[in-house]
Amino acid sequence: MRERLLRSARKVMKNAYAPFSHFRVGAAILTSKGRVFVGCNVENSSYGMTNCAERTAIFSAIAKDGPELEIQAVAVVASPNVVAPANNHHGVPCSPCGACRQVIYEFGPRAVIFYQGKRGPKQSLVTDLLPEGFRLK
Ligand code: THU
Repeated sequence: MRERLLRSARKVMKNAYAPFSHFRVGAAILTSKGRVFVGCNVENSSYGMTNCAERTAIFSAIAKDGPELEIQAVAVVASPNVVAPANNHHGVPCSPCGACRQVIYEFGPRAVIFYQGKRGPKQSLVTDLLPEGFRLK
């Protein structure tokens, strides 16, 4: 499953709109219904309007499948180039940003996240990346 998600993330990364940072990111999420949704980062001339790959994937899942989304796993892949270099299958280090951690937590408080750390592939629970995440319900 980890490999399937990483493959999907790598594929969608190529659709990123990243003319400002040139940092392309792809994300894939696995839902409790066994479905996979993908997203890439979409930047904007007004930089703050940029949407990260993780949130694109989550918002797309809700648009397609409704609000009862439960995220089991998330894979994140990034590359400073169009395609990740062949000798670095996992791309460059990229853990989810703080905003994305909070959004992942909303729909997947037990989610596991696969990403590239500084010393190689990593896997962390969202609760380890975001201790005491905020919830209203
Ligand atoms: N970015 C993501 O898409 N996900 C992350 O987890 C970290 C950052 C994007 C936002 C922006 O388009 C680019 O990476 C550089 O910050």
